[in-house]
Amino acid sequence: SLRAGRSDSVGLLVLDVTNPFFTMVARGVEDQAAEDGLTVMLLNSAENPERQRRSLRVLAEHRAAGAVVMPVDNDVADLLWLRERGIPWVLLDRGDVAVDVGSSVYVDNHAGGLAAGRHLVSLGHERITYLSGPLSLEQCRTRLAGLRAALEENGVEAGDAVRLIEAPSLTADSGEKAVEEVLAGGPRRRPQAVFCANDQLALGLLKGLGARGLSVPDDLSVVGYDDVDVAALVHPGLTTVAQPKYQIGRAAMRLLAAEIHEPRGAHERLVFTPRLVVRGSTAAHR
Ligand code: RIB
Repeated sequence: SLRAGRSDSVGLLVLDVTNPFFTMVARGVEDQAAEDGLTVMLLNSAENPERQRRSLRVLAEHRAAGAVVMPVDNDVADLLWLRERGIPWVLLDRGDVAVDVGSSVYVDNHAGGLAAGRHLVSLGHERITYLSGPLSLEQCRTRLAGLRAALEENGVEAGDAVRLIEAPSLTADSGEKAVEEVLAGGPRRRPQAVFCANDQLALGLLKGLGARGLSVPDDLSVVGYDDVDVAALVHPGLTTVAQPKYQIGRAAMRLLAAEIHEPRGAHERLVFTPRLVVRGSTAAHR
């Protein structure tokens, strides 16, 4: 049973509620919460540390039973503050927080970047642009490291081959606007492939490329990350690194329920492996 004075709601703090990646995660969290007799309160940080801090304060005021948090950075001070108030939490999507600090559910971002990179190398691509979201996000940095590792294991000097563009957010709008920079330097400098840090960026980029008369995958290949439903619905279908969105939501909520009922139990870290899904947006270099 819940501890005295606690509500039966748990917070779910996500980076961006408009992104379908998070709605699938939320569905997993909520299905599991319902089985545990808990209700979910949704909070949105918009990738902003100040909004994250405010959301955690709100959870304390509402005497939430716990929280599943996708943090904006690796600063855990506010989270520790929350736990001192008796509110346990589980981190989602953060690979750089030690297990003695708290429980976490993580999908191996290095493996995902590596899978995308190996796929592009196998198609003969060497001049690759990585369209990143904010580099303050661990997932953006680690996916890039995986991409570089794939090139290097194939004898390609990643420092020369990979061009990095940092978009201001992981949104389709940012992806569409990035097209100018992706194509800067004219046709001779055009990348053979663009690996995007998430599907929203990739979908926006596809739109921007189409508007400039470029054809994917004939003129260049595009890879996304997440495998949101739309990735299979657009034409060409988006090659992407699939994350087990629903499952990680459920797993995080399961760990959280355990911490709510056993506050002094040991923390746990679950690691899932992403999977490359090949569709029409990638093809061999001609
Ligand atoms: O699309 C949102 C991205 O940020 C995902 O790739 C997920 O890992 C999240 O952290």
